[in-house]
Amino acid sequence: MPLSKIAGIGYYVPANVFTNKDLEKYMDTNDEWIQERTGIKERRYADRLGETTTTMGVEAAKIAIERAGITPLDIDFIIFATICPDYYFPGCGVLLQRAMKMKEIGALDVRNQCSGFVYALSVADQFIRSGMYKNILVVGSEKHSFGLDFSTRGRNVSVIFGDGAGAVVLQPAAKEGQGILSTHLHSDGESAEILAMYNPGTHANHWLPEKLADFDDKEIGELFISHAMIDKAQLFPNMDGPAVFKKAVVKFPEVITEALMKNGLTPADLKMLIPHQANLRIAQFVQQKLKLNDDQVYNNIQKFGNTTAASIPIALCEAWEQGKIKEGDLVCLAAFGSGFTWASALIRW
Ligand SMILES: CC(C)(COP(=O)(O)OP(=O)(O)OC[C@H]1O[C@@H](n2cnc3c(N)ncnc32)[C@H](O)[C@@H]1OP(=O)(O)O)[C@@H](O)C(=O)NCCC(=O)NCCS
Repeated sequence: MPLSKIAGIGYYVPANVFTNKDLEKYMDTNDEWIQERTGIKERRYADRLGETTTTMGVEAAKIAIERAGITPLDIDFIIFATICPDYYFPGCGVLLQRAMKMKEIGALDVRNQCSGFVYALSVADQFIRSGMYKNILVVGSEKHSFGLDFSTRGRNVSVIFGDGAGAVVLQPAAKEGQGILSTHLHSDGESAEILAMYNPGTHANHWLPEKLADFDDKEIGELFISHAMIDKAQLFPNMDGPAVFKKAVVKFPEVITEALMKNGLTPADLKMLIPHQANLRIAQFVQQKLKLNDDQVYNNIQKFGNTTAASIPIALCEAWEQGKIKEGDLVCLAAFGSGFTWASALIRW
């Protein structure tokens, strides 16, 4: 049974550059704090009214499809990973199918936050290996800038995230041993609320600790979105940054090592590690732990911030465009994020 390979890859980031200095106009923060704690210098923000998570995904997909040497009509399945969907429902997959005038193919949305792209890739990999599909489009795209708290109250979250999209086309590999060697998926929901956006949702306070449980208005129809939620800024993401950091630095190396061991390989065999761009300090910690050289790890969080499901395909595409990944190279993708969920994919390019 052939493995699946990445036959085409593309990314899109909006033109609008938002520097740390720009953020100072909205909240009490500064360039030094942001760079020292996260490595981020700037990020891109989508055109507020002209671009959506789906339209950015379409731009990335166009490039990936063209580089795979096919057309949108050849795509036989779509997997779209995002936490910033255009609509609560339906998902971005069908909006992309419409926008790209594709056939009436299946479209699946994946909501796995920062590990969304690796999860999506893993699902696509199984469909290719089983012979069910021949050309799967996998997209990771996020328009975070539309849903962040740009006041000082939200600064620990807002400074980290940026907008952008990445996409790949997966096909059966023609050469023996080429392609996705294995994927590894994990979750631990114990700390689901540590990095989460609770509202709007159907939780009805069920899961929330007392200090966070906060429905004032119990009239029917007002539990999903209420005026109180807006007044108390409860429609924004929440994050306990230090708790996320502590878990990430354990799970990243673990899931990378798992992928290497499964294939009888070691960190020294890696040409390139593409870590999800969560925080430069996390990536540096992982690099040290695995004893990788600087040229074995690709980081671009400095330019784009954390683009959640889009960060890995954007970084992978950049590294490939810069000639840092060539045929036969061993590449590891690894992600960790809200859920918590974490995942890796080992690829013989
Ligand atoms: C978010 C993160 C950068 C914060 O760094 P930290 O060193 O842990 O900082 P803390 O949260 O302990 O906050 C330290 C201080 O900085 C302040 N602060 C928070 N955000 C700030 C900002 N943007 N600008 C200036 N000060 C800020 C805090 O209020 C706190 O002030 P205090 O000491 O007066 O209470 C860091 O925890 C992190 O990156 N965690 C992982 C997050 C992540 O990767 N999330 C994505 C998941 S994939």
